[in-house]
Amino acid sequence: MLSFAERGRGPVLLFIHAFPLDHTMWRAQIDFFSERYRVIAPDILGFGGSQPPRSWTMPDMGQELADLIDRLQVEKCALIGLSIGGYIALPFTLAYPDRVERLVLAHTRARADLEAERVNRNAMIDGLRKDGIATLPDKMLRRLLGADAPAEVRDFVRASIERASAEASVHAVTAMRDRADQTDNLARLRCPTLVIAGSGDAILKVEDCEAMAKAIPAAEFAVIPRTGHLSNLEDSVAFNRMLDQFLKRYDSK
Ligand code: MLT
Repeated sequence: MLSFAERGRGPVLLFIHAFPLDHTMWRAQIDFFSERYRVIAPDILGFGGSQPPRSWTMPDMGQELADLIDRLQVEKCALIGLSIGGYIALPFTLAYPDRVERLVLAHTRARADLEAERVNRNAMIDGLRKDGIATLPDKMLRRLLGADAPAEVRDFVRASIERASAEASVHAVTAMRDRADQTDNLARLRCPTLVIAGSGDAILKVEDCEAMAKAIPAAEFAVIPRTGHLSNLEDSVAFNRMLDQFLKRYDSK
């Protein structure tokens, strides 16, 4: 069973966080959007309060999400997935098209890992087994944050990584390594979709995010300048504005 934060009333926004963080990375979005929406931000299996860690696949996480929204009596939502959150949100939307009215895919991709990326995932798993979570902060901070990330954000992300469980991280890296390729399924997405990239994202190239947006029938594409992989934290004002405009365009229809 997933633990989650929930605040506000109105149409539901469901936020899925990045690896190896937890729902608290959405703090600025929870504050901002709970004025008008019912914001729900779960912790991925093994992170935050979703304990104990166990092995899982992307479809397993989709089932967990479906169980969560059933439990909360949420019929439909706008689903916002960032990075691994997008790896989860995309197949979830394909599996439960009636539950997702709008989709946001931020700093994420549809394709499976390439061979070289799988090799890096395996090295990360070995590092986690050998040295525990201490192996992650330096490695991940370089990948996650752009050069302009404020010091306060850097400290927050480091502290979030340090409190993550090594075992949960092994399961999440394994799930990312083994995820299915969804490229050919993008054309089946029917709901309005916003694809977000960061101009300085070291993990997801702007061109790759743009190509994904082009393959989705009803997609808009936006780049947040001067941010890395965690634009919602690095420039929460720009991220919130972009998401707010996207949501408002469809709220009024
Ligand atoms: C994430 O930020 O969720 C992951 O780092 C994404 C990835 O490694 O593919």
